[in-house]
Amino acid sequence: MGPAIIDGKYYLSYEQIHTTIRAMAQEIQGTGFDPDVIVAIGTGGFIPARILKTFLKKPILTVGISYYGPDNKPAKTPHTIQWIDEVEKKLAGKKVLLVDEVDDSRVTLEYCLRELLRHGACEIAIAVLHNKKKEKRGKIPHEIRRYFAGQELEDRWICYPWDAENIGEHQKKALPTA
Ligand code: G4P
Ligand code: MG
Repeated sequence: MGPAIIDGKYYLSYEQIHTTIRAMAQEIQGTGFDPDVIVAIGTGGFIPARILKTFLKKPILTVGISYYGPDNKPAKTPHTIQWIDEVEKKLAGKKVLLVDEVDDSRVTLEYCLRELLRHGACEIAIAVLHNKKKEKRGKIPHEIRRYFAGQELEDRWICYPWDAENIGEHQKKALPTA
């Protein structure tokens, strides 16, 4: 059974997300892929990455994406990535698990994957909590062979608990209506 749908949107609880991530961690371990480091794409990837760490027990590095160009005007595609110098230095020769909450257009993911490759990561796998089944504008570079998605969902808006201003109301919506 998939997540609850209310007014056309998916609602997910923290518990459902935790359970999905545990299963995904087991799947990752089952393939033998043993990352040196988790790279979390902020901000949506922060909480999924932290839950993954409970199971995979690997350190987390975090990166942010900026949609603003040098002229400070908003852009349609990511322009800069807020790497800390230390993050770059730690990537060379490393096996990286790149984590985000949702694979939507795939544009952010492609941008991050290319940056990781540029900084010398030796093997990269992708782990997303949710993949939306849709035409993707971004492409996964051919060097990347491993892709894990906790759940495959239809192309609807997903409401995450960390975005809720009223977690009690959110939780009620996310509960399965059996
Ligand atoms: P992708 O490469 O991972 O597919 O991401 P894309 O650039 O298409 O996504 C743009 C922003 O929209 C991302 O947030 C992503 O998390 C958010 N997004 C896309 N679909 C959904 C959805 O169904 N629900 C929610 N809640 N967010 C969605 P961002 O700009 O990186 O911001 P942040 O929220 O991660 O800080
Ligand atoms: Mg995001």
